[in-house]
Amino acid sequence: MWLQRFLAATRGVRAPLKQAILGRYRRSGAVLFSDTTLRDGEQMPGATLDPEDKLEIALALEGLGVHSLDAGFPASSESDRAAIRLMVGRVKGPILTALCRTLTADIDAADEALSGLSPRKRGVSLFVGTSPLHREHKLRKSRTELLELIEQTVDYATRKFEIVAFSPEDASRTEPEFLTEVYQVAIGAGATTVGFPDTVGLCTPEKARGFIRHIQDSVANLDRALLAVHFHNDLGLAVANSLACIEEGVQVVQCTVNGIGERAGNACLEEVALALALHQDQYGRAGSIDLSRLRAVSQLVAERTGCPVAPNKPISGRTIFATEAGIHQDGMLKHPDMYLPFRPELVGAEGVEFVLGRHSGRRAVAHRLAALGLSADDPTVERILEAIKSLPKGTVVEEPQLRQLVAQESREPTDSA
Ligand code: KIV
Ligand code: ZN
Repeated sequence: MWLQRFLAATRGVRAPLKQAILGRYRRSGAVLFSDTTLRDGEQMPGATLDPEDKLEIALALEGLGVHSLDAGFPASSESDRAAIRLMVGRVKGPILTALCRTLTADIDAADEALSGLSPRKRGVSLFVGTSPLHREHKLRKSRTELLELIEQTVDYATRKFEIVAFSPEDASRTEPEFLTEVYQVAIGAGATTVGFPDTVGLCTPEKARGFIRHIQDSVANLDRALLAVHFHNDLGLAVANSLACIEEGVQVVQCTVNGIGERAGNACLEEVALALALHQDQYGRAGSIDLSRLRAVSQLVAERTGCPVAPNKPISGRTIFATEAGIHQDGMLKHPDMYLPFRPELVGAEGVEFVLGRHSGRRAVAHRLAALGLSADDPTVERILEAIKSLPKGTVVEEPQLRQLVAQESREPTDSA
């Protein structure tokens, strides 16, 4: 909100003043969530979304409290343009940004797709590969040529947009001293955010920290832009890397719901937001995400993309608040926090489920019976438990079967009864 108000208030105001206020914002410490579910997330094979799906997810993300939405890549398809057009005027909270290569045609396409939005609610997100691999084999450009291209296209974008982000694709495999030049040129040309994309997901938290410190120490004009990070999850470290960079002081984290995205996906928004909230003592910085909506948004994205979440996925997995092991069941019946890091309600789940299966204990059986209003003495509970343990592997006893077992074991005399 602060940034949006500031950008609105400073339209047409002298750049130094705008930058001074931006600098104050940088120092304010808030962590801004930039969601890229609808762009990088959709790049996951099979995760294709129709424009209507995208609108529905964008509205859910707005409810979640994300700061900005990577709404799509207008130059890439009619469907992306249609989706952005649907969002314009309907998605009111987050800033909508459109992805562009360093091509004026892409920036023009973004300008058209986002037309009608107030300048403080729309932006472009430019990217170009900067690593030796990209320079030599994809772009066939020297460092100097690339710097010129960045300067010209960022400058071009600033004539149409107040909010201009620039990311050096494959930053984590780019020579650090060249990265410094790239950022300086982009910020000099008017970029209001610069990103650090770990495009192939190779970073470790320590290396990510090293990059951020290097950028902070060497980019002379960094006080004139926000610093964003974008981690892919090829080593399963995207969330850890994002959190490490938050600790180093970056202002923006780019994430996707359910961590979907190219190859192994992106940093999972839910996981970054929850860790940030639960470890305020460590990070000391606020996020804006409404945690109680996390499971619902995750479910919506899973349904619309057709990419289900694993049952044990943190925050949104089906079984993460279900316990079958007798020792855990007993402990959690004594105190709900015994084997939980946080209460299920925090992320919008209903509560703990005591699953009855081969590993269960008698306390859970008694608990489930009581919840159904059924009573059974201790020997009967014991017999029910024995019956459950002898059921085929993987059986989970649901209510009808439990009622049957109660009826059966209550009337069956045993040797010890
Ligand atoms: O991973 C990446 O490098 C990207 C760019 C488009 C920023 O998604
Ligand atoms: Zn990416």
